[in-house]
Order: sequence, then C-alpha cells, then structure tokens
Amino acid sequence: MTESSIGQPLSRVDGPLKVTGGATYAAEFGVAGMAYAVIVGSSAGRGRITGVDTRAALAQPGVLAVLSHLNAPRLPYREYRAAVDPAVGERLHVLQDDRVRFFGQPVAVVVAETLEAAGHGASLVDVTYAAEQPSTDLAASTATPLAPPGVNGDYARGDADAALRDAHTRIDQTYRMTRENHNPMELHATIAQWDGDRLVLWDKTQWVQSTAAQLAAVFGIPEDSVHVISPFVGGGFGSALRAWPHVTLAALAARQVSRPVKLVLTRRQMYSGTGYRAAIDQRLALGSTADGRITSLVHEARAETSAYEQHTDAVLVLSRFLYSTPAVRASYRLVPLDVHTPTFMRGPGQATTSYALECAVDELAHELGIDPIELRLRNEPGHDEFTGTPFSSRRLRECYSVGARTFGWAKRNPAVRSARDGHWLLGTGVATACYHTMRSAAESLARINEDGTAVVASATSDMGPGTYTSMTQVAADSLGLPTDRVGFLLGDSTLPPAPPHGGSQTMASVGSAVRAACDALRDNLTRLAVAHSASPLHGVRPSDIAAGDGRLFVRDAPDRGETYQQILAREGRSRLQVRRSYAPGDAPDRFSTYAYGAVFAEVAVDEDLGFVRVRRLFGAYDVGRVINPKLAHSQAIGGLVGGIGMALLEHTVVDHRDGRIVNANLADYLVPVNADVPAVDAVYLDGDDRTADPIGVKGLGEVTLTGVAAAIANAVHHATGRRVRDLPITLEALL
Ligand code: MOS
Repeated sequence: MTESSIGQPLSRVDGPLKVTGGATYAAEFGVAGMAYAVIVGSSAGRGRITGVDTRAALAQPGVLAVLSHLNAPRLPYREYRAAVDPAVGERLHVLQDDRVRFFGQPVAVVVAETLEAAGHGASLVDVTYAAEQPSTDLAASTATPLAPPGVNGDYARGDADAALRDAHTRIDQTYRMTRENHNPMELHATIAQWDGDRLVLWDKTQWVQSTAAQLAAVFGIPEDSVHVISPFVGGGFGSALRAWPHVTLAALAARQVSRPVKLVLTRRQMYSGTGYRAAIDQRLALGSTADGRITSLVHEARAETSAYEQHTDAVLVLSRFLYSTPAVRASYRLVPLDVHTPTFMRGPGQATTSYALECAVDELAHELGIDPIELRLRNEPGHDEFTGTPFSSRRLRECYSVGARTFGWAKRNPAVRSARDGHWLLGTGVATACYHTMRSAAESLARINEDGTAVVASATSDMGPGTYTSMTQVAADSLGLPTDRVGFLLGDSTLPPAPPHGGSQTMASVGSAVRAACDALRDNLTRLAVAHSASPLHGVRPSDIAAGDGRLFVRDAPDRGETYQQILAREGRSRLQVRRSYAPGDAPDRFSTYAYGAVFAEVAVDEDLGFVRVRRLFGAYDVGRVINPKLAHSQAIGGLVGGIGMALLEHTVVDHRDGRIVNANLADYLVPVNADVPAVDAVYLDGDDRTADPIGVKGLGEVTLTGVAAAIANAVHHATGRRVRDLPITLEALL
C-alpha cells in the first residue's frame, strides 16, 4: 500500500512550470487586441483638481483615450463589505470627483496602443491642483482618533491601571513601528476585457471571488458577470487581498476603448496604489511581583488609517490572552490621515503586537533579573483567560525547550555587553511567536476520471506557500492515489467558493474541504464497488475497504480489490464527481486555537559604527500537523527573513510636507537580501490538532513572522545594553 502523501517533503508540483516560465502571471496573459493603460497619480497630497489638460496627450500617436473625473462615467459603486475586513469596499471612488485625498491618488488614466505611448501620454497630462497641506504624520496628527468596533474594540478585565500602580516592578514603554510595504516581486496587474455586460479580469489577487464581487459592486452588475482568473500570484503578503483602484481603472479603460486593456502598476505606484502595514505606536505596560508573576498588562495602540476608510488589524489579540494575568486593559485607536488605506500585511496584528509585547516582557525579565524564557514559562496560562475556553493545543513550553537546546541558550551570559568578537558586540534574544488559527467555510470539487486520474478544485490562490502542492497531497491521501495522478485547480472565480488566501487559513479551510470532497468521492466509489455483483469487492463492508495505489481493496486482503478505472468502466461512466464543503462549526467558540513558537536570535553590533548584523535565527513552532515539511520549512525561512526586514531594514518614508513617499522603489526601500540573511533555521514539532479542523493543521505561515523583530531587538539590547524601541533599528539609534 502507498505511504500517505501527507507529511512527505514533496517538491512543488508547479515548480517546473515556474522555472521554465510556463506559469502565467496576470500581466503575462496574451489577450488579442489588447491596449495599455498607465495611471497618472496626483502630485498633490490633498486638495482639489482645478484642471486636467489632455490635449498634448491625446495628440500623441497611439493614444486612444484619457480618462479623468471630467469625462469618466459615473459608476454605481454599490455597497460591498467583505467579512474579512469592513474596510474592503473601495470607498475611494476613483475618477468620480475632483477631490485629492492622498499623494499619488489616480487622477487620470491614459490608454494607448502600446505601453510606451500610454506612458508618454501620461507624462503629458497636465493636472492642476488647489493643493492643501496634507496631514500624514501619525505622531503629529490632531485628528480625533476612532475606536474600532467589535472584536478590535476596547477590552478590560480586572483593574489593570490600579494593579500597575501597585506592582512590585513595572515596565511602561512606547514602541513605534514605521509604515511598511509588502513589496511582492510580482507587480500588481490587471487585464480587463468586456463582452457586453460581462467582465473578464486576469488579475493578481489572493481572493478571486472577492475581486469578482468588488468589481461587480463598482459597476453595478451581477457577481456572476465577473470572471476573475489568477492561477499564479508572484507573492502577495496581503497586498492582493482586495481589489485596489487600478483594477477598476483597467475595467473602466477597457469599456471606454471597447478593447481589452492591460494595466500594470509600476514599482513606484505600488506604494500608493496598494495597501501597506500601518505605522503604529504601542504603549505596553507590565506590572509584576518580585518573582515575575505578571499582575497587570496595559496595551494602548494607535495606528494610521486613511480619512476615507478604516482599516483595522487584530492588534489586541495577543495582549488579551498570551500571558496569564488577572488584569488587562487594551485599546486600539485609528488616526485618520490624508493617506491611502493600509491593509493586512504578513502576520497582520499579531506581528505588530508581538514586537511590543515581547520586547516589554524582555525588559521586565531584565529588570527582575530573571531569565526571559523562565519569566515566560512562569506566566503560562492554563486556559485562554480572554475567552475562558481551553486551548485546543498549546505546546509553547516544548517550543522553548527544543529551541533553547538547539540554539544553545544555556551558554548565554545574561549580562549585557558580555560577549564580543573583535569590534562586534554579540548578543542573543528570544521572543514568543503566536498567530491565530483562522478557519472559514470553503468548498471543493473532486472528480475521478476514467483514466484513473483525479481533478480537485477550489477557488483559492497560491501566492507562494505551495497551495497547489499541499492540496494535491491531501487529495492524494484521501483518494489513495499517487500525487502525480492528482491535479489541483485554483485561481478561478468560477470554481467552488473559497475564503481569502490569507490569514494562514488556506490549509485549514480549503484543505478540510478538499479532504471532505475526496473522502466523499472515495466513499461513492466504494459504494458502487460493493453493490456490484461483478466487483471483487461485492458485499464487503465499506469500513473494511481501504484505498491505495489508485485502487480500492480489502484492508486485510489487499490482493482482493479493483482500480478506479475498472469501477468506472463497469458503470459505463467517464467520470465521477462530487462537491463538498467544510465549515468550522463551533470549534472556534469552544477552543482557543493558535499556532505558537519560540524565536531565537543572535546579533552582532559594530561598536563604532552601529551596524547590526543578524548572525543566527532559529524558530521552533507548534502548528499542529505539517502537510509538507519542505514547503513548511520554506515558509519559516521566509517568515524569519521577513522579521529581519521588520527589525532592521523596512521603512516606508513619507515626506510629511506633501505626503509623497520618498523611497518608493526597491533601491531605497530596503528588504533583506542574501547578504543580510545568515544561518536561518526552523523546526516544527510533530503535531496533529484535530480539534482545530479535520486535517489537524493550525496554520504555519504567518506565525513565523511574529516574534522575530522582538527577538532581534532583545538581542541588540543584550549585545549593547541599549533599548531601541523604534523599528526599524537603524545605526543612528545605536551611535
Ligand atoms: Mo496575509 S497578510 O494574511 O496575506
């Protein structure tokens, strides 16, 4: 019998397509008769458009049309709200009025026969403004902050302020994180084609069906009139979770010129045309007893959002439950600025909180003279003190013991500035990683063909984690097929419904739907076999039948069985197909389900110049079951490297004089490159959390981005004795 495909380090099934250029990304679809669109972005950060002179642009050979608010059709912009984010609704009604809400806002779009003509035309559009001073600085803003409702709203248990006053030892600090941009390698791109009132979009998106629904709302057409195709996504990190204004502009332009239109954002336009991780200040106060029991936790977060939409991240999640403490007060405020709307980015919410919280815990440990791992273990909760529910699984202690052993934590001298290598000061730091286990309803189709191959499909995405591969493994395991006889389809809005490919929920949600569909298909085949007098399985109890190597057989007598081809042939059918759904039910209400980890960092800081170099990173994670250890390890490396970026490099610089983004390119916006990435490694504990979902997974992508920045910042403190509480940690701060 075949070994289960789950747990195998299968290489990406789409790898050959990717390395041979056979994987087609949004901008690469060849659509006959295509024209090209280029956006003109506002050069004012706030105000009104007083004029749009398009004569020079229209006089250029090849320019077909120039659209601005002066001539663009008024669009219905029906209300649309996605469950995942109340802000997803595109309340930036693009080209609908003369208002400028942020620097770089699309104020015109030029459509031409070639990209070159469109780009040249865009440079010739003369827009004049009555500009006003924009407010783009979170620290300086005097706007009234908004309190998000619902799950991100104010929370308290006990009297945290009194407990803080009365505590033996207190830490009370503000941690600042700058704005960051996702910077996926693939630029956001859309090709739009109308056929009457039907719209086809080849688009970069992490959520094909929501993109279809959003565009249907903008144009006031039925959702099933929009077909979104997105088989490959070259990185997303959250930037492609909603349809940004350029998608509307591509569709608008295509309708205007009655031709398919391709619109690709430039790298510079990505910084004003898609979302970003909001700049955020967090006050984190901890009170404790002399022996390190946390008696109070105060968390006050204040983040930027746009004046026209409110984006909220789950920034209060960790402060409410990660540590056992009788008193918590947590609040989150949004400061509306003249900026475009931020969005979810890599470990949204929890990556943010884990930085402030895990630095504060390290500060408390240092103050108390208690080892930072020991301090954390002393405050391990027995259950979720926010919800009152038990943990489905929480193996943080094991993460710490495995991590500490592998990293060599016991050798550490706790004194700061106690290790050096020439002029490099050496330090080590640690932090807890944690990310919620999201699950949403999902559907999958599963089909067996007369040649014994299977096709499984759901409208999810694969922005890089390996969805094609991991879903193939789940399906192959259920059906008892070798993985090379299973094809998984995704990235098409006409496929069975799937939730956003984000929040690390794809495996739990879509994987469980794939499991349900494939199990049902196998059961249907089993029923056909046992019911047919010509089958060797006739009359066998279905529970005594197993599947493997593309056949059904008696578990205790494997020679007695038949192939799927034989069953279908006897039935005279070319295929058998089922559709099944998964819904999380009440498990999320009855159990507290999170992925956990312990992150260890070693840094070297140049004593004279302040350079920080990460020397080692190691993470040990509790994520439930791992479907594919090779892909999972790759996710962990990616998350840890992302953490280096957050800690030391990534910083979107806004010029507050006019709202311009100064470093809107990959030369000036620093992301870690190979030279910044030293020995990075991670392990996942063997696990299986069937309370979380039917396939036992807890999500393993984004947890690996949480905690990393804190571990690095804590290591910098250990090396230098300096606490830098603003990210990224730059050399200026260490001089
Ligand atoms: Mo991720 S921010 O959930 O795409």
